[in-house]
Amino acid sequence: HPKALLKAIHEDGAFLKPLENQHVVSIDQFSSEMLLQLFRLAAKYESNPERFSAALQGKVLISAFYEPSTRTRLSFESAWHRLGGDIMSITDRSSTGIAKGESLEDVAEMFNNYGDCVVLRDSQAESVHRMMNTLRIPIINAGNGIDEHPTQAMADLYTIFKWRPELIERDLPAEKRIHIGIIGVPGKMRTVRSLLKIIAHFPDMLSEVSIIHDKREQALFAEGQRESLEAAGLKITTYTDLPAVLPALDVVYINAIAWMGDDYETFGNRFKLSKASPLKAGAIVLHPLARGEELSTNLDATPHNWYFSQARGAVFVRKALLTYMVQRGERVMDVI
Ligand code: CP
Repeated sequence: HPKALLKAIHEDGAFLKPLENQHVVSIDQFSSEMLLQLFRLAAKYESNPERFSAALQGKVLISAFYEPSTRTRLSFESAWHRLGGDIMSITDRSSTGIAKGESLEDVAEMFNNYGDCVVLRDSQAESVHRMMNTLRIPIINAGNGIDEHPTQAMADLYTIFKWRPELIERDLPAEKRIHIGIIGVPGKMRTVRSLLKIIAHFPDMLSEVSIIHDKREQALFAEGQRESLEAAGLKITTYTDLPAVLPALDVVYINAIAWMGDDYETFGNRFKLSKASPLKAGAIVLHPLARGEELSTNLDATPHNWYFSQARGAVFVRKALLTYMVQRGERVMDVI
């Protein structure tokens, strides 16, 4: 699958030059061509996962996760290690000066002296922006409150393109377009928010995007969110009955939790997927994980399970992003 995607994308690394030494906070910063070039490099890395690259040798990552994470932290750290770099990891803000009242701006000023790149997860949407006020090294948003999780969305779309590389084509005929169903609240879930932004870069691959939600949910979209997605070319529909729409979906995106400030809120026990669900033959299920009861383990051994591939692919997507952010583009080709 990565080889088919690699073949489908014409190489032009020049599109990624704007990433050099830049912060990555939102999917808004990326064009469709930049994303395709990132996916091309990711597919190149994934096609040859054992090959060592020294692209980041001598570079130090500050991995600051002030909120729990399994996949994002470890896949960023794995990506950095596999590119030959070194890592300093903070997994608890109370072990830093923040516990003594030090400002995020001052912490970021110190980070300038210690590392070459920062990856930050924080429950507050504004934290990444506050650190950017004093950072002179790039920072990557690894999830900021309910706002965005851009590299997760990259991993999501990379997975979809590996599943069907023809979806990268412009003017795809109607019969080849896919119907994506997203179970969640776009206004309150960072993974969903970033996913919608990233698929809006490729409206030609979609026949419809359905949001499946709890009917008690009052504010499904943030202000202006639906309008801007529709202006980008997405045809958005909403449903409250999962089994009714499930047989029509080619991609089912499910998420365990809605982010409500600092708290987890379980999002609807009624929205569960299992082997017994009326999934379309050939449909794929994506989930950013960690899962709860909404995604039965009895789907793991079925062809619908693309969520493990999604998590695996994230390492290669992050390797590709880091390569272009921290290493000069012309040197990239010498080392991969
Ligand atoms: N997908 C994701 O963000 O997972 P973690 O919370 O484990 O990083």
